[in-house]
Amino acid sequence: MTVGEAAFNPLDLSGRHYLVTGAASGIGRAVAERMALLGARLSLVDVDAAALEGVRAALLARGVVQATPFDLRDTDAIGPMVEGCVAAQGPLHGIVHCAGLQSVMPVRTLKLERARELFAVNTEAALALSSALASRKVYAGEHGALVFISSVMAMAGSPGAVAYAASKAALHGMARTLSVELAPKRIRVNCIAPGFVRTPLLERTERLWEPGQREAVEAQHPLGFGEPEDIANAVVFLAADTGRWITGTVLVVDGGYLAH
Ligand SMILES: NC(=O)c1ccc[n+]([C@@H]2O[C@H](COP(=O)([O-])OP(=O)(O)OC[C@H]3O[C@@H](n4cnc5c(N)ncnc54)[C@H](O)[C@@H]3O)[C@@H](O)[C@H]2O)c1
Repeated sequence: MTVGEAAFNPLDLSGRHYLVTGAASGIGRAVAERMALLGARLSLVDVDAAALEGVRAALLARGVVQATPFDLRDTDAIGPMVEGCVAAQGPLHGIVHCAGLQSVMPVRTLKLERARELFAVNTEAALALSSALASRKVYAGEHGALVFISSVMAMAGSPGAVAYAASKAALHGMARTLSVELAPKRIRVNCIAPGFVRTPLLERTERLWEPGQREAVEAQHPLGFGEPEDIANAVVFLAADTGRWITGTVLVVDGGYLAH
């Protein structure tokens, strides 16, 4: 094996700049850690300023990382926020939208205000981020990748998940259409649909479950619950050159949840 072969890494992200939302916790944090390890420059966005600063500080030794505390419910301000990240660290190669809200709400007791909040963060923010990346001021012009974190709940029914499922299913349609529209700019657009992953979001959901429900839900995953890194691995696969011929698709990463 030559030195060149030994150094070959198809997941290499060096020289590229990615914006990661929801980077203060769970899956977003794991994505930031993986991308930093692979050499990317990062703009990290989250509403939780203190936790975000902790992630930025932990990743500093790995490269150039900037933290932008921001509430993605302010969808009109997303474009200017993204432009601010570009002014600080150069044009973007991609955006990974991990920030998300979950809510267990049977349709009978649905609060539309809460449903709108879910849609603002999970769905509208994805649309505004995509629009920002498509702009010539923002996009680096090559290796473009948008990755939206959706959910298996968009593909399999689960009681109480109607608003969440709808907000995530919209991402699948968005990715398909955007993949066609943005292909001429060499921006690929994909979703990852995780099963249940051990993060603070899952811990909050578990508190609402009946006794024994946790074990039952885990048993629906032949490989058990996932770890944030399992999703981060799929994100870097799609963002890097390993995913260069993949667009408009939903990659299910669920430990077998949808297999039966
Ligand atoms: N954990 C799971 O089992 C699971 C399964 C399927 C899909 N997902 C999806 O994965 C994504 C990440 O979830 P997680 O489990 O890491 O959750 P998490 O709660 O650990 O992290 C979500 C992050 O999003 C941030 N966020 C929430 N609202 C925001 C806002 N208005 N503006 C900016 N940031 C905001 C939070 O502060 C938090 O840091 C979400 O989109 C979620 O729907 C998670």
